[in-house]
Amino acid sequence: MDRKRFRGRDFLDLVDYSREEIHYLLDTACELKRLDMMGIRDEKPLKGKIVALLFEKPSLRTRVSFEVAVRHLGGESFYLGSQEVGLGQREAVKDVAQVLDRMVDGLVIRTFAHENLLEIARFASIPVINGLSDLYHPCQVLGDLLTIQEKKGKLRGLKICFLGDGNNVCHSWINAASILGLELVVSTPERYRISSQIWEEAQERGKKNGARIIYEVDPQKAIEGAEVVYTDVWASMGKEAEKEERKVFLQPYQVNSHLLSKASPDFIVMHCMPAKRGEEITDEVMDGPHSVVVDEAENRLHAQKALLTLILS
Ligand code: CP
Ligand code: NVA
Repeated sequence: MDRKRFRGRDFLDLVDYSREEIHYLLDTACELKRLDMMGIRDEKPLKGKIVALLFEKPSLRTRVSFEVAVRHLGGESFYLGSQEVGLGQREAVKDVAQVLDRMVDGLVIRTFAHENLLEIARFASIPVINGLSDLYHPCQVLGDLLTIQEKKGKLRGLKICFLGDGNNVCHSWINAASILGLELVVSTPERYRISSQIWEEAQERGKKNGARIIYEVDPQKAIEGAEVVYTDVWASMGKEAEKEERKVFLQPYQVNSHLLSKASPDFIVMHCMPAKRGEEITDEVMDGPHSVVVDEAENRLHAQKALLTLILS
């Protein structure tokens, strides 16, 4: 594949990338990880580049993996918290976008409203990466795909089961499955089902790409024979006020040993982290032999190095 096709592009969700492009990103990530494990970080494709991280919500993995990735690749980064910038409050979103566009080479944004991200991308000519919005978390799913590929040797032909809240991570998962032709069972309470627009569009796309994306309200049925079991917090950042009410509806979706007894014997358990241990996942499962959550967190670094290399160099 001609690497030039990535240059200068935004990464707002996986849906903007083709199957071939996603596979190329994953192959690049594998290669960078392989080199990194041998202590080879000679390539400096981001030399002279400066990346700003503008985050309106807290972060451990996304912030650290991007800051480290930029440095490994020879560039520099800096962090802007919500207090400094006041996106859309201290000044208009488009003004922030136009000013940053004149000063830095790339932006990683973590925000609430996905519209903020779209507006920044519209007014900034530099690459804009979605470091999580209320709607999507594509960098997470890119790292997740890399992890599944490593652990299972493939992506297609596996039953992947997402349990819990129909949130941003779930949306990006559904889009990924629809492009890559994966089998994904989404199991959420009716009340916390994913956006119907995203669902319908993914069904259309998925049909063309040989995907099988199913909704199953019953977690016991959803998990039957699953090789990959995925969960995320029940109350995402910004939804903390609904925490107690959500617990009531989401309790049956807790990933625990009892539920997992119905999965395929060689299942892996994934969680984007941070996890609320004892809520959506038990300690026993999180720390158990099937859990790949820490490898998954590490892979954020390798996946994003591939992304930065391809869109920014
Ligand atoms: N998974 C993830 O994005 O973690 P952070 O919120 O810590 O960045
Ligand atoms: N759904 C979670 C993901 C955190 C990485 C949230 O938005 O808070």
